[in-house]
Amino acid sequence: MAVRVTEKSRMLIELPMMMFLRLADGDGKMTAREMECFDKLLKSRDWCRSSLFRRSLATTEAEKAEVWERYTAGEFGTAIDQVAASLDTVLGSTAPEERPDLERDLLQLCRRVRKAARWGVGPFWGDDEGKTTFEVLTELIKRPSARSAQTEAKAPVEAKVPTSNVGALLAGHVSAEMFWRRGKLPLRCIQVIDETHDVKTFRFVAEPPKLFRYYPGQFMTLEVPIEGNIVRRSYTISATPSRPHVISITAKRVERGQVSNWLHDNLSAGDPLFADGPHGTFTCIPDEAGPYLFISAGSGITPVMSMSRWLYDTMPEADIQFLHFARSPEDLIFADELREMERHLPSFRCQFVCSQAAETSGWPGPVGRISPELLTKLVPDLKKRSVYLCGPVPFMDAARGMLEQIGFDMTRFHQEIFGGVPRRDPGAAEAQASKAAKVMFSASNIEVDCKGSDYILDLALTEGLPVAYSCRAGQCGTCKVTLLEGKVEHDCANGLTPNDEKDGHILACQARPIGHVVVDV
Ligand SMILES: Cc1cc2nc3c(=O)[nH]c(=O)nc-3n(C[C@H](O)[C@H](O)[C@H](O)COP(=O)(O)OP(=O)(O)OC[C@H]3O[C@@H](n4cnc5c(N)ncnc54)[C@H](O)[C@@H]3O)c2cc1C
Ligand code: FES
Repeated sequence: MAVRVTEKSRMLIELPMMMFLRLADGDGKMTAREMECFDKLLKSRDWCRSSLFRRSLATTEAEKAEVWERYTAGEFGTAIDQVAASLDTVLGSTAPEERPDLERDLLQLCRRVRKAARWGVGPFWGDDEGKTTFEVLTELIKRPSARSAQTEAKAPVEAKVPTSNVGALLAGHVSAEMFWRRGKLPLRCIQVIDETHDVKTFRFVAEPPKLFRYYPGQFMTLEVPIEGNIVRRSYTISATPSRPHVISITAKRVERGQVSNWLHDNLSAGDPLFADGPHGTFTCIPDEAGPYLFISAGSGITPVMSMSRWLYDTMPEADIQFLHFARSPEDLIFADELREMERHLPSFRCQFVCSQAAETSGWPGPVGRISPELLTKLVPDLKKRSVYLCGPVPFMDAARGMLEQIGFDMTRFHQEIFGGVPRRDPGAAEAQASKAAKVMFSASNIEVDCKGSDYILDLALTEGLPVAYSCRAGQCGTCKVTLLEGKVEHDCANGLTPNDEKDGHILACQARPIGHVVVDV
């Protein structure tokens, strides 16, 4: 008699491998040590309380080769939304009385794999990545919303763009669990807005739903799958934490830029994406009273836009002068919304300056580049304000120099660097140029002879090693790696938290080796 394999029973057989691969190895390969650990988990089933899950592990063990074949043939994947869908199918179709034991066993499986990380299975124990994946999976197992919706629905309706479940957050009691804690979070894009010819805003909800908590001006690091690799770049959160259900980034397409072009050309409503954050210290929050002068150019408008939206929602009496510089009237981002805010708030003033404006454009505003004269003309009382500046590096260098020249009190000056070109201290590096050094990239077993003026990121990239980076200015923390032995010197270490330093992390883009060092790359 043919045995009918239901969706649930197929998923129950695949689920242990799916979860193991998700936790132990996001890139879909299994090392010999991981294989050994997986075999042990399948064999020692005495920890299971659910007879269903015990049988499922036994079947996975018996059919391991076929399950692995189905996985490598792409019949199932380990992306977080695929694991979430399988969990919902399995748990949603399990009888309510069997569910607690099954949930408990699934959590046990996660804990056992996480514990095995201490002995070199998957990401290292101290890794943020391993910890975050573990947290996301355990939350998925415990989440009730998707499951109950599924059991109640007679016939699930497939929507091309999944409806976000954000409304669930409005019902019932708000608990700490509902907030985005610092770390990696699965997002789903819900909308893409064309701001200008080369700037788009991407709006997201968290999945499972969360309330976003961050300081206006902070950024998050997106993980983008490009040609089989995960590429990371940081983007300021252009939304405001006063509207916590939705988060957004606003990205400018950069010529030949990997991630900005991928976002513009590929990301659309319905697509999942991972983001890590929130990060950064550029925010108006400790300085709630103002008065403020926001100065931005190009896509550097995003952090000061987030601050403006926050102040608009929470402090309508705030005294804000907003100066934005763009190439042409067509390049102005958020101009309509800023003018709207100006109409509604008595002490909000926005002024736009274009460096070029064709006569035919009818542009009524100032034309030119930033200068001390223009600054003092547009904002005569600028010396009494706190300045928040963001834009391309040459623009910021010029603006900062002008403020110093005017005699501005630089203790009230704040800036955010998006980076792009490496920003380093040539003087400090020069002093070490004559000193010999050696960097051992331990995970890759590559040793490089170098100078004390060389940066660890450059050395790694020259060797073709996969170190992620974004700002190359010591700000974003994307290039964080672990220093296992020796000492380094940083030109700038703003991207490290005190905990990072305690854990032995360094910023590869800013760290130069002193003598012999070993890094975990
Ligand atoms: C804290 C922070 C916040 C940020 N916020 C924002 C934001 O809100 N909005 C925003 O738009 N950006 C933001 N950025 C910048 C963003 O992180 C990216 O740096 C930017 O989008 C470019 O990334 P990319 O992958 O497209 O370009 P990359 O691939 O990194 O290229 C960067 C530069 O190198 C050049 N380049 C690339 N390949 C080559 C090549 N083969 N030969 C020569 N040149 C080459 C590109 O032309 C480009 O100028 C932020 C950065 C940081 C650190
Ligand atoms: S790449 Fe941003 S801190 Fe190094």
